[in-house]
Amino acid sequence: MNCLSPSILAADFSILGEQIRQLDDAGAQYVHIDVMDGDFVPSISMGMPLIRSIRACTDRMFDVHLMVREPIRYLLDFAEAGADIITVHAEACTHLDRTIDNIKEMGLLAGVALNPSTPLETIRYILSKVDMVLIMTVNPGFGGQKLIPYTVDKIRELKQLLKKTQNKADIEVDGGVTLENVGTLLDAGANVIVAGSAVFQGEISENVSRFLNLLNA
Ligand code: DX5
Ligand code: ZN
Repeated sequence: MNCLSPSILAADFSILGEQIRQLDDAGAQYVHIDVMDGDFVPSISMGMPLIRSIRACTDRMFDVHLMVREPIRYLLDFAEAGADIITVHAEACTHLDRTIDNIKEMGLLAGVALNPSTPLETIRYILSKVDMVLIMTVNPGFGGQKLIPYTVDKIRELKQLLKKTQNKADIEVDGGVTLENVGTLLDAGANVIVAGSAVFQGEISENVSRFLNLLNA
């Protein structure tokens, strides 16, 4: 199934609860939550207290993207705050295998993210353990960037690899996704679509509906 995961990094934080309810009403399946530690990525964004307080606004899946070094230290905290899917960066985990195991042991869905320049080979041995692979289509750290074209080839390659190994993991894409390029990403094999600016700039409900029409086409 194709899912839309709007990134609240682009939301208006003064009315965050209201905007999350708008996403929910418009039919967006996930809420994408970008956690940045100011170390693995240059910026600092949001953490557990925020997730805990917006948990009351919606029953939609919380898709928590940890751009955090050694996230194994915080998995339990994010689970308790209300995460449903926890995605960690392969580049940020000394013990990626153990980190994935810990997420699964808590009964959550586990995702692994790759920066644009990180080869798929990096996740070869843990691919069968994860529920989702997040292909970063920009360098993580900021919203509102332009998609890096070569990452589309990587999505295609991953899709082929999953097919070959009969692996049903989701392919998520994140960064620079627009109504104009989402078709190309879906064709390449992505099925969980993150969009920040393209959802929150302008009319949220309208933007979500437009994305969902393309996702369901
Ligand atoms: C980037 C974040 C993205 C970001 C996407 O580091 O992981 O989720 O919010 O924002 P847009 O869609 O504006 O590129
Ligand atoms: Zn993200």
